[in-house]
Amino acid sequence: MRAAGVNRYWTHVISLFLISTSAAAAASGGNETDQLALLAFKAKISDDPLGVFSSWNMSLHFCLWEGITCNKQHQRVVSLNLSSTGLVGSLCPDIGNMSFLREIDLYNNSLQGPIPQEVDRLFRLKVLSLGRNDLEGKIPGTIGRLKSLFFVDISSNELSGMIPTSIFNISSLSSFNLASNQLEGSIPSDIGLTLPNLKLIRLSYNKLTGSIPASLSNVSKLQAIEFQSNNLRGPVSVDFGRLPYLQLLRLSYNNLGSGEEGNLSFLDPLTNCSRLLILELESNNFQRSLPSSIANLSTTLQIISLAYNQISGSIPSGIGNCISLILLSLQGNKLTGIIPSEIARLGKLQRVILSNNMLSGSIPASIGNLSLLDEIHLEDNQLQGTIPAGFGNCPMLVFLDLSRNNLSGTIPRNLFSISPFSVKLNLSRNHLVGSLPAAIGALGTVVELDVSENEFSGFIPVELGRCISLSSLYMQGNFIQGYIPESLTNLRGLQYIDFSRNKLSENIPDFFGDLIYVEYLNLSCNNLAGKVPMIGVFSNASAFSIVGNKKLCGGIPELRLKKCSKKYIGTYNQIMAWVQVFILIGSIQDLLIISCVFMSWHRRKRREQLRYSASNVMISPNKMSYELLRQATKGFSRTNLVSESGFGLVYKGKLDLKYIGIPEGEKAAIAVKIFNTLNEEAANCFITECETLKNIRHRNIVRIISTCENHKFKAIVYDFMKNGSLEGWLHSTSKASHDKLNMPQILNLDTKINIAIDVASALDYLHTQLANPLIHCNLKPSNILLDRNMTAHVSNFGLAKFNTEFSLTSQSILTGFEGNSGYVPPEYGLGCKMTTKGDTYSFGILLLEILTRRKPTHRMFRGGLNLHNFVWMAMPDNVMDIIDPLMMVTASANEGNEKQVEECLTRLFSIGLACSKPSPKDRPSMLSILHELESIRNSFYIN
Ligand SMILES: *[C@@H]1O[C@H](CO)[C@@H](O)[C@H](O)[C@H]1NC(C)=O
Ligand SMILES: *[C@@H]1O[C@H](CO)[C@@H](O)[C@H](O)[C@H]1NC(C)=O
Ligand SMILES: *[C@@H]1O[C@H](CO)[C@@H](O)[C@H](O)[C@H]1NC(C)=O
Ligand SMILES: *[C@@H]1O[C@H](CO)[C@@H](O)[C@H](O)[C@H]1NC(C)=O
Ligand SMILES: *[C@@H]1O[C@H](CO)[C@@H](O)[C@H](O)[C@H]1NC(C)=O
Repeated sequence: MRAAGVNRYWTHVISLFLISTSAAAAASGGNETDQLALLAFKAKISDDPLGVFSSWNMSLHFCLWEGITCNKQHQRVVSLNLSSTGLVGSLCPDIGNMSFLREIDLYNNSLQGPIPQEVDRLFRLKVLSLGRNDLEGKIPGTIGRLKSLFFVDISSNELSGMIPTSIFNISSLSSFNLASNQLEGSIPSDIGLTLPNLKLIRLSYNKLTGSIPASLSNVSKLQAIEFQSNNLRGPVSVDFGRLPYLQLLRLSYNNLGSGEEGNLSFLDPLTNCSRLLILELESNNFQRSLPSSIANLSTTLQIISLAYNQISGSIPSGIGNCISLILLSLQGNKLTGIIPSEIARLGKLQRVILSNNMLSGSIPASIGNLSLLDEIHLEDNQLQGTIPAGFGNCPMLVFLDLSRNNLSGTIPRNLFSISPFSVKLNLSRNHLVGSLPAAIGALGTVVELDVSENEFSGFIPVELGRCISLSSLYMQGNFIQGYIPESLTNLRGLQYIDFSRNKLSENIPDFFGDLIYVEYLNLSCNNLAGKVPMIGVFSNASAFSIVGNKKLCGGIPELRLKKCSKKYIGTYNQIMAWVQVFILIGSIQDLLIISCVFMSWHRRKRREQLRYSASNVMISPNKMSYELLRQATKGFSRTNLVSESGFGLVYKGKLDLKYIGIPEGEKAAIAVKIFNTLNEEAANCFITECETLKNIRHRNIVRIISTCENHKFKAIVYDFMKNGSLEGWLHSTSKASHDKLNMPQILNLDTKINIAIDVASALDYLHTQLANPLIHCNLKPSNILLDRNMTAHVSNFGLAKFNTEFSLTSQSILTGFEGNSGYVPPEYGLGCKMTTKGDTYSFGILLLEILTRRKPTHRMFRGGLNLHNFVWMAMPDNVMDIIDPLMMVTASANEGNEKQVEECLTRLFSIGLACSKPSPKDRPSMLSILHELESIRNSFYIN
């Protein structure tokens, strides 16, 4: 970008030189009009964070002002380009006086208010790019006067009202994007005749009504049709066979289709679109069966989504021909018959979602051959037979839901060898038998485990205590017996626990009362005996249930149980805890569990002093009060919770700025991180994070707004990062993104480069620009946060260290345990001292992960193979085979030059490889990395 600016600068200088020497006769006075109009434009801008207006002064000719291009002959402004400059303000009508304007590019700023009607005077205008602003009011009705318009992007604003019909008469239009507004009206039926040059039409996320005009069949250059999320209805009668360049067809979330035979027959000619990448028809009213022509859809097709229609009949086995499919989403229909085993031919498949249908037969065993699968949803069908052992061969599988079927038999032993990064496993409401295998402990990162309403027997495996990320544990409605193992005390993040309707006996373990996040605990209808604890969840009668256990005593008075006699205050569970400790010995992970068990033992004694409590908070005046944070987060409500881990919780909130000294009383979005004070590591992290961030200010490092601290409650308040973490963008399995698009969010290559540059400049700052170099020590995608503009901010300084002498501590082992071992440089494992080169290593791995969308900790990387080697082997000829497949979708849609994209990727991979070299001395400095990344970005943009 900068390089382009410099070039433009010299063009102006030379042209001005020519003008002044030849004293050419300029258009009389017109140039002064332009100058006045530009000054009027500037006057309406209230904030210019990047200082683009610093050159807009009278000592410099306006043709040299930043963002301005003039024509040589008349010194008239032909282009106003201040895209992505963070401008805040509104548009003035005087802009319409610059009658030579051909381009207005104010994309991605914070401009508010209406689009002035006076733009209709700019009859030379070809490009009008106002997307990603906050513009309101309507689109001027006279915009159709601009007969030369070629590119219109007013997407992602707050526009409402009707789309003016005159805009559909601008026959030169090629790229037309009004997506993500609140526009009304319908698409004119003759659009295909009036806009014959369209390549891209994006009207998605509006309130459009009417039908999709059949005349679009005439627009033979169309590449993208995006009408999703409107109120369009009726049949789809476009003859897509006449659109050979079509790549994207997105019609989801409308009311299209009808019950009539043939309402899906538009899919037949779609087989002529040999470049099709994405076909999205989700949440419409399509009915009847899928045509078998689906087998002949483009072999480049990556996404098929027909979910939430009323499609019946069976899944055509020809689907196995769509060999490039990444996502197959057919849930929420009325599909019958079997799941065709041909699905196993789709070697690139990452997500299969067939839930909520009436599919029967057994699950094809060959599904285990799909090595890239990361999500399988088959819930709510009528599937029979056993769970195929093959699932254990899907090393990427993080989300498996087989609930509400008729599956029988036992759990295959290797089911739990699915990805060690699994997130959700739901086998509930089937007829599964046998006991829960000890291997369940291998699901270390599982967050939700549901085996309820089956016919499981046997005991709760002690190894379940290894699933330290669990937040929901459902086992109700089985025949599980024995005691509740003390090892579950490790599951500090548990929120929902249901063990009801089983045959559990012995005591109710005290530790349930120690699990501070528990909101719901159901132990009803078992054979539990002895004393009911009174602390934690047991202090709130509406949060737990113990009915139907006949031998209980004690507890809070509301339970009206009989008092306990002395003999019940036994130590059975405490003895069992030690027994389990010895069973679990074997690895570092076990050592940690032992220390956790030990700590919880030790901690129990101090429980009364340490109990988390909202009351009795001491506030130091220069910090924020607990009460203020409570209000800002709506009482720490679950709807405001954005993430959670054993270390604590993060809430979003809105804070009145007057509390931090800004009198306007505006509200700012904040993130509140509450540290788990029961976890000593977390408490240390609070101190480290406060100390390190106190003196740091950098564009790419999260900013602390305030802190709130007393001996029981520790929280840090940050700016809220609207776009979440990089982890979410790369590997999202969150419900929110699911509900919306059913696919991971897509990062395109230039965003990826920008993120890499942001992180590199943060690290360079930490390593070289502070009095003492600071080592972050915990760089990974979940610690990279993205703001509204997709600018990356490095966060989580809880493990940061100043570059002084020290070596591996138990804390850093713990970090590895928490799941970032793939980012820790090899020398740390050998007990070497931590250095800035360690961060360089993590950065290298992070960059490789961004480009490949593969986690370094993935199970495929074992033995000698790691992410570094994996990339190294593909260099330089096969880089296109290992890149993030979803990134290609956008790259090709952007009509990028493939050769240049490949070259750029090769250079990026080389940086990642150099940074992640095994020996610290071979790794480059962050400054040289930063320079190389910037040079890649420049060459990428110029090309
Ligand atoms: C405006 O400038 C940006 C950055 O230099 C560039 O990417 C964009 O293409 C320009 N817009 C137009 C319409 O030329
Ligand atoms: C406008 O053009 C006239 C005639 O060439 C010239 O005298 C004058 O200096 C120009 N003004 C500006 C602001 O460029
Ligand atoms: C733009 O033109 C309008 C009339 O067409 C005039 O009233 C206004 O003053 C002009 N603005 C500037 C800045 O010259
Ligand atoms: C005008 O802008 C130029 C270019 O940014 C700068 O060098 C100069 O100092 C500015 N002059 C004034 C008076 O601000
Ligand atoms: C938007 O502009 C900001 C600078 O204000 C920039 O950092 C960001 O990358 C831009 N985003 C997009 C999507 O162009």
